[in-house]
Amino acid sequence: MESTRSKIINLLSTKQDTYISGQEISNQLNISRSAIWKHIKELEKAGFIIEGIRNKGYRIVQSPNNVSENTVQWGLNTKWLGKSIIHKESTTSTQHLAHQLASEDKEHGTVVIADEQTQGKGRLSRDWYSAKDKGIWMSILLRPTIPPYLAPQLTLLTATVLADVLKESLNLVPKIKWPNDILLDNKKVSGILTEMQAEQDRIDYVVIGIGMNVNHEQQDLLANIQSKATSLKLVSGKSIDITELIQKILEYFEAAYEEFMNNGFSNIKEKWESYGYRLGESISITTYHDVQKAVLVGIDEDGALLAKFKDDEIKKIYSGEIDWFGNEN
Ligand code: BTN
Repeated sequence: MESTRSKIINLLSTKQDTYISGQEISNQLNISRSAIWKHIKELEKAGFIIEGIRNKGYRIVQSPNNVSENTVQWGLNTKWLGKSIIHKESTTSTQHLAHQLASEDKEHGTVVIADEQTQGKGRLSRDWYSAKDKGIWMSILLRPTIPPYLAPQLTLLTATVLADVLKESLNLVPKIKWPNDILLDNKKVSGILTEMQAEQDRIDYVVIGIGMNVNHEQQDLLANIQSKATSLKLVSGKSIDITELIQKILEYFEAAYEEFMNNGFSNIKEKWESYGYRLGESISITTYHDVQKAVLVGIDEDGALLAKFKDDEIKKIYSGEIDWFGNEN
């Protein structure tokens, strides 16, 4: 259930520059004026700056700039996603923690967020560098009622969610590089790691890990990836409110997940392909046994990459990398 504090934040956030009177809040939320005042004091303790003017009402001047369970939850417009949030200032990996919580029966939609990860994990057993307070390091615990072979669709769904948020909330031009990298200006800004616990025909749970470089300056990126990684700040030229961005991602994710559960994968596939990096172009594909040139055609229902090779045969690629820099020689 949405807390009263959350409802107050939602109400005040709908009209950023105008005041909402105590009477209006009281009518809408069915609480007394003195209860509102107590909630406002609690919000101020949590870092909100709220202006209250007699005969005018209240308005939010500034939201807290630290991420916490409360700051993410207050103002979060979701029905089930993020109703339980676990926030850590520092942890080894939000994936580890999410797996642990899953084994303790934590519910579908639980979200784990850290300001810093000391052993962040990337795909293919790579390390994922997660600088303190600079990015989104978050894992979502899901218990989807789909067969295990469809789980890769959730990774593709997540990629479209992140691309939509970057495009619609920040006016950026994201691309999705198969299978799960979000690129801006040809550089990686975000990655997704999906891990699953399943039996042959039934998923116990899925943990979707999202890493996004948000407020990194160039020197905050590891030296060895500076040429191929970027951050939202480096691309947009401005600092981004991490809490608001997390809220947007969760809201878009919940809507996309429900759409997927109700209507299947076809809309996601279409959207994914609309963001697809170098679709229709000839590039090199590195699998674990060779490197070959092929034209990227799209993605298949099972999440595989469809690529056309020189004999015009379209093959499915399940695991591998497509050329980083797109040098198609
Ligand atoms: C990749 O592109 O290789 C995937 C990177 C996924 C990183 C995220 S950060 C939050 C979650 N916790 C981790 O340890 N990894 C994922």
